[in-house]
Formats: sequence, structure tokens, C-alpha cells
Amino acid sequence: DIPVICIDGPTASGKGTLADEVAQALGYVVLDSGMLYRASGLAAQRAGADLDDGQAVAAIAARLDLHFSRGRVLLGDDDITDALRLETTGLLASKVAAHSEVRHALHQLQLDYRRLPGLVADGRDMGTAIFPDAPLKVFLTASAATRAERRYKQLISKGISASIAGLRQDLEARDLQDKSRKASPLAPAADARELDNSALSIEESKDLVLDWWAQ
Ligand code: CDP
Repeated sequence: DIPVICIDGPTASGKGTLADEVAQALGYVVLDSGMLYRASGLAAQRAGADLDDGQAVAAIAARLDLHFSRGRVLLGDDDITDALRLETTGLLASKVAAHSEVRHALHQLQLDYRRLPGLVADGRDMGTAIFPDAPLKVFLTASAATRAERRYKQLISKGISASIAGLRQDLEARDLQDKSRKASPLAPAADARELDNSALSIEESKDLVLDWWAQ
């Protein structure tokens, strides 16, 4: 049996960073499931598909031609590494992720990430839908103010200007969209441990999860 640790939660809660840290400490592989929804959104947009048509987008998601090389992500021949991280792409992902057909099309691909010695899966529904039997599920949260501030610092460090108030509005809008959809709405699994990391360092959050894992 390949062990899986699920880390789910809202946008900018620090899931990606925590997943990477925990995986590195344990020598595990990481599944960034949000990236698959982001890539599906970009692929559908580039193909000129109707984003409200779940079946059309799902057909594209099922044939995602993704490659990873030297830290870059390629969709077919296009380098989408930078486009993937844009907030507009996050919104696009959230839009296509609302279709159950799209979620279904990406299901097996996500299961295929399981590899020895183990997997850390980062997303919204890792613990509820994809790996319901995972022995450790973390639902990571942080206050909206903290999340907006973290995203702000991230952007500023890349030389991109932004306003904290605008970012907070964006992330609250996306959370609302993720929580109110019918297909796998954003919510903690019944057996998830909730972790509010607003006042914790990355190191402290990582150590806490590793303690839970060792129990
Ligand atoms: O990094 P951030 O939390 O902003 O976004 P992400 O994890 O890359 O996910 C982008 C969008 O994809 C989310 O807003 C969700 O709507 C969707 N998503 C999902 O529905 N299920 C997942 N397992 C992962 C992402």
C-alpha cells in the first residue's frame, strides 16, 4: 500500500508550500492537482472551447498533452509555466473545475501519481474524493487577511504590483465559487484535521504535520 497524505484547503492558504516541505522531509512525490485544473482551463481556452460546456472541456482534459522538463511545464509545444500561475488562470481553473465531467476526466490521472515511497496530494478534494482512504488528511486554512498578504508578498517579490484589498476580493470570490459548486465543493473531509496556519511559520506547520504522520 502506498501511503498518501492529503493537504486540502482554500486558495493561498499555503498548501503548495506545505505539501512541498512535507514531501521533501519524507522523500515523497507531490501531486499538485490544482495545476491539472489550471492546465485544463488553459488547454480549453486555447482550443476555443465553450467553457460552460462540461463535456467539451472534459474531452480536452482527458487528452492533456503535458510534459515536464527542466522545471518548465509544456502543453503540447507551448511553455505554460508562467501562464499557469496567473490569477486569471486560477479563475479559469475554478470555472472548469465546477464541471463534474472535468473532475471525472482527471480522476485516474491523479490516482496515477501514487508512487513509492509515498505521495503528498495538494488540492481541494484530495481527502474527500480522490484519496478517501488516506490515513492523514489536513485541511489547511488561514484568515483572508493573512492569505491576501501572503499573495501580495509573492507578487511583489516577482516585481508584479498589486493591491492587498483587490487580492483579498479575488481570493474570496474564488473561494465562494469553489464552496458553492455542486461537484466536490471545497469542504474538509469528515476525518480531516483542520490546521489554521495564520500565525504559524512554514517550519512550524511542517513539523506539526510530520508529528501527526508519525502518530
Ligand atoms: O494555488 P491556489 O490554491 O490558488 O489554486 P490551485 O490549487 O492551483 O487551484 C486552482 C483552482 O482549481 C481552484 O480554485 C479550484 O477551483 C480548482 N481545483 C479543484 O477544483 N480541485 C482540486 N483538487 C484542485 C484545484
